[in-house]
Amino acid sequence: MFPCGFAWGAATAAYQIEGGWEADGKGASIWDTFCHEKGRVFGEHNGDIACNSYELWDRDLECIQQLGLTHYRLSLSWSRLLPDGTTEHVNQKGVQYYNKVIDDLLVCNVTPMVTLYHFDLPQALQDKGGWKSASVASLFDSYARFCFQTFGDRVKLWITINEPYVCAKLGHEDGIHAPGLKEPGTAAYLVGHNMLRAHAMAWHSYDSLYRPKQKGAVSLAINSDWVEPLHPGCPDHVAAAERLLAFSLGWFAWPVFVTGDYPEIMRSAIDAQSERLGHSGGSRLPSFSEDEPQVLGTADFFALNYYTSRKVKPGGGHGRTLCMKSDRDAEEVLDPSWPISGVSWLAVVPDGIRKLLNYIKDTCNNPAVYITENGFAQVGPLQIEDERRCEFYKDTILEVAKAVGEDKVNVRGYFAWSLLDNFEWADGTSVRFGLFHVDFSDTQRRRTVYRSGQEYAKMIQKYKSDQSR
Ligand code: GAL
Repeated sequence: MFPCGFAWGAATAAYQIEGGWEADGKGASIWDTFCHEKGRVFGEHNGDIACNSYELWDRDLECIQQLGLTHYRLSLSWSRLLPDGTTEHVNQKGVQYYNKVIDDLLVCNVTPMVTLYHFDLPQALQDKGGWKSASVASLFDSYARFCFQTFGDRVKLWITINEPYVCAKLGHEDGIHAPGLKEPGTAAYLVGHNMLRAHAMAWHSYDSLYRPKQKGAVSLAINSDWVEPLHPGCPDHVAAAERLLAFSLGWFAWPVFVTGDYPEIMRSAIDAQSERLGHSGGSRLPSFSEDEPQVLGTADFFALNYYTSRKVKPGGGHGRTLCMKSDRDAEEVLDPSWPISGVSWLAVVPDGIRKLLNYIKDTCNNPAVYITENGFAQVGPLQIEDERRCEFYKDTILEVAKAVGEDKVNVRGYFAWSLLDNFEWADGTSVRFGLFHVDFSDTQRRRTVYRSGQEYAKMIQKYKSDQSR
């Protein structure tokens, strides 16, 4: 039922697991800075040590092998490789670390999928304006070329940027992620724009300079909830759901997969709201320049991070202040019939993934899709027998199977978030997404498989043997 060569993976990200925040010449990232400021993160937690994967990579590799993964998605820390963010100064210890990780994976027959940017901008570049500054795009391109050049002989699956939506909105509109800016209604659009420019430049660099020899594939990871109108019979609810989807998935998928530009709904809403509120200085949503590398067509597959679903009704559009909520005029509602996982935002809606996959197939020209993240959070007392997470993975993977088998969506792989309990951003280590438990009170950061890890391993084994029949 899953195609031959289907990727069965798990994902992590550098800042969330590595620790070693200033080891061996690593430069600081915006998450180092953010966590070291008081009151930013739950319980003043930080990723200084995290799972200590910088020193304990061998343990992680054992976990990967124990699950029987065919693929492992990791991210590179930009400031571990290039401490000041530029290729002027390369930290060889960082190169050695990732060389070992990649080589070890390949020896064990595990295919690496490598993300270049997972929320952790070098602080040195933040000091020069960060993602709000237009020049960050070419600095990202140089970093990407450096990575393709250094690791691309062995890495064939690349993600340039993870969840530009989250970086833009949580980091620059809501201020709850690094760099902690609260500039509602303006900065997020600018940041999203520069991320798209950066991604497109890196994809073109790969395409012209590295693809002919390295023969890999490059994309960006787009996160989106599945959304439905609260009252499907009400046209304004239907329109609100469309707007919300345009402001989440569409924001990044339309420029890359559909039109080369932002969704029309988004453009007209932002323009109208700017005018209504008397905003001066042109549209707050930037335009793509014809003098720059084209954004349309800059993905070799669709990388989707899916966690949850929402019902939607109109709301928030008549505020007096500029902000994204007011631009999109769509209010999210949690359906009371959906159970909640450990965190309040994560309603468990396995069939949402099937609907979203079909939406992507229908609107984005039926691309090959990798589900690059999907998972279930646990909070409170530790439960190694995590029955609900077992159910979650079983139900979700069944929905993916239906999308593949019945709906003919071209899904090529599934990555569980996450291999390990780790530093869950603003929630610190209080929220646990791992297939392995990590004991953060133990200096050795002991890893223990959850029941869900064992069940995932069994599913992988079963599906793999179905494939080979
Ligand atoms: C994603 C993010 C991951 C992980 C996950 C669970 O937005 O890419 O790093 O934290 O959410 O919240």
